[in-house]
Amino acid sequence: MTHAAEQRGFRPRLVPSADPESEVLVLDGVEKEFTVDRRPVQALARIDLQLRRGEFVCLIGASGCGKSTILRMIAGLERPTAGEVRVGGRPVTGPGLDRSLVFQEHRLLPWASVEQNVYLALDAVPLGRAEKWRRVAEHLALVGLTDFARAYPAQLSGGMAQRAAIARGLVANPAILLLDEPLGALDSLTRSYLQDELLRIWEAEGTTTLMVTHDVEEALLLADRVVVLDPRPGRVREIVRVDLPRPRRRGDPELATLKERVLGELRHL
Ligand SMILES: Nc1ncnc2c1ncn2[C@@H]1O[C@H](COP(=O)(O)OP(=O)(O)O)[C@@H](O)[C@H]1O
Ligand SMILES: [Mg+2]
Repeated sequence: MTHAAEQRGFRPRLVPSADPESEVLVLDGVEKEFTVDRRPVQALARIDLQLRRGEFVCLIGASGCGKSTILRMIAGLERPTAGEVRVGGRPVTGPGLDRSLVFQEHRLLPWASVEQNVYLALDAVPLGRAEKWRRVAEHLALVGLTDFARAYPAQLSGGMAQRAAIARGLVANPAILLLDEPLGALDSLTRSYLQDELLRIWEAEGTTTLMVTHDVEEALLLADRVVVLDPRPGRVREIVRVDLPRPRRRGDPELATLKERVLGELRHL
């Protein structure tokens, strides 16, 4: 848009790909091939995906279709065979503080307390000790673990340990939070409670979030868009936009319609 057009108050319709500034994460023709038993195995065919700042997107698809590989490439733990991942316009070449990854297992250090675990995520962040501890306290409060700051991972329930892992993932204020089936190992009650919590935390922090789940309802409750993947090799089958206001009700008929649609897509695999 020209400067003059801007001054006249002209606002273009919000087209996601029109403004590169708003696209914090771009997967541009990303492919991944592994070598298994000395033979090439194509895990991911061409993946093109853009996330706008503050967006919550879920990836869903059959086991083995490459969901974790996508997150690992964004995290910089794995290099694409072709194409490029860009964060804030810059190509990803390795891990960095602008991205954090939370796994299904909490992966907290067993010998460190909850607050120490979160503090350790600030190791490479150029801040003073006092500011770091302030941030730790702020993020423990955000996930509701203030009273368990001094507890050790073995003393936490599964849901609490995942909250601690999420606090650790957010404490360095990453541009992008990557969640790999973070609620997958929890019982259904804890899971539905933490879905609401995740939404509250995302709304408070505004962090662009890409979450893998194999629970269609979970994806539809949380996400702005649900990316349905096809397997062997992994590729985008469909992107479903969820235009329902939050908080969404699990029993909402519109949500049920979308659920049928996504399940239909998944059954065609
Ligand atoms: N390091 C690796 N070496 C060889 N094959 C791998 C490696 N990591 C993943 N794969 C293969 O790539 C495919 C996608 O794996 P993954 O991303 O873990 O799938 P998902 O998370 O969707 O279950 C699978 O076929 C898996 O066996
Ligand atoms: Mg996986």
